[in-house]
Amino acid sequence: MTTNEQEFARARGAMPGGVNSPVRAFGSVHETPRFFVAASGPYVTDVEGREYVDLVGSWGPAILGHAHPAVVKAVQDAAAHGLSFGASTPGETELAELIAARVTRADHSPVERVRLVSTGTEATMTAIRLARGATGRDLVVKFAGHYHGHSDGLLAEAGSGVATLALPGSAGVPAPIAAQTLVIPYNDLDAVREVFAARGEDIAAIIVEAAPANMGIVPPAHGFNAAIADIAHAHGALLILDEVLTGFRVGPAGWYGIDPVPFAPDLITFGKVVGGGLPLAALGGSAALMELLAPLGPVYQAGTLSGNPLAVAAGRTTLDHLDADAYARIDAAATTIADAAASALTEAGVTHVVQRSGNLFSIQFAAEPPVDYDTVKAQEAYRYPPFFRAMLAQGVSLPPSVFEAWFVSAAHDDAAVSRIVDALPAAARAAAEARPG
Ligand SMILES: Cc1ncc(COP(=O)(O)O)c(C=O)c1O
Repeated sequence: MTTNEQEFARARGAMPGGVNSPVRAFGSVHETPRFFVAASGPYVTDVEGREYVDLVGSWGPAILGHAHPAVVKAVQDAAAHGLSFGASTPGETELAELIAARVTRADHSPVERVRLVSTGTEATMTAIRLARGATGRDLVVKFAGHYHGHSDGLLAEAGSGVATLALPGSAGVPAPIAAQTLVIPYNDLDAVREVFAARGEDIAAIIVEAAPANMGIVPPAHGFNAAIADIAHAHGALLILDEVLTGFRVGPAGWYGIDPVPFAPDLITFGKVVGGGLPLAALGGSAALMELLAPLGPVYQAGTLSGNPLAVAAGRTTLDHLDADAYARIDAAATTIADAAASALTEAGVTHVVQRSGNLFSIQFAAEPPVDYDTVKAQEAYRYPPFFRAMLAQGVSLPPSVFEAWFVSAAHDDAAVSRIVDALPAAARAAAEARPG
């Protein structure tokens, strides 16, 4: 048996920082990353044989719990018939139809056509290219603290991983490309109006996280998504709704289905849950827009593994099992954990708010609910590392950054929830004792 410490040392000699995605390095929580060898339901097990209740859930995909038997079986069955064809399969059409059928509200169905890709980054990148191709304009408006993947133009002030590393953006992005992205504060309609007043004729699209979860949870102000849709449309621009994280998680039709004020996005991006734990993401929109994509239209996009049969099988089976009962269980467990976290922190005298968007939540160490990236960054973030480490020591795996959401699954039963709730008071005391620096 090796230790996590040994695995990390070896990994650092083989991969930059020992990881394949920066947040996994546990840098901001000053802890050795755990190297997992197995996962089942709400639990993950590391190389030392230690089991943790997991609140990361692979950053979203494990919504039914890890290694859900039906999903595993669907993937095994698909694998037995061939791993990848690089050609069309009936399953892809079925998944595309399933996505379109779920993402509806009253009589509005914004998804008439779907393209399957492999990552959320590809989905948002393609949505932006499509918006530019459709409008003949170059500029994109994004909100500070929103993360849309790691394509060049979308890294400016991009929340979570980037915030955790305290980088302003990324080296290697040419200035002329960064200049195509206009970054404005979130939840600020005046800023949206001003940017359109100044550059409206050149703006192809606004891209927005449907309910931001990459700077911790910061819910949209009432009617914000509807208002920005109206502003974009009034100027001939599109609204790209990024539901890579929220899609099929906060409800059967994602945030689009539960936003208190209905609105009309032009393109929607999906990822995480829709791939059921395998690499699959998607974008969807009206037939008129989506058919601008090659082979029908002039906007090029392609992928060797797009619509991979194993990923399609995992995604279809996951969506099939996400019924009203599953969402009710996720919502109930999320409420219990969020309430217990708030009580423990109050009891320990720690200034905090627990922000929620549906069943997604996160702790923010602030007196007032943060509404944008500046107010998020102003919190007492130094309280999170000791809180995180105290939870980990008690067998609870939280997201290793204060800027990430906590992901609850349908497999978080009473036993798993109790283990989390029991661990919270000691973690809250550790947060109370934390000092800056
Ligand atoms: C809202 C949002 N958009 C896009 C992405 C990028 O997805 P991926 O990591 O699959 O490229 C993420 C990933 O966390 C996300 O949360």
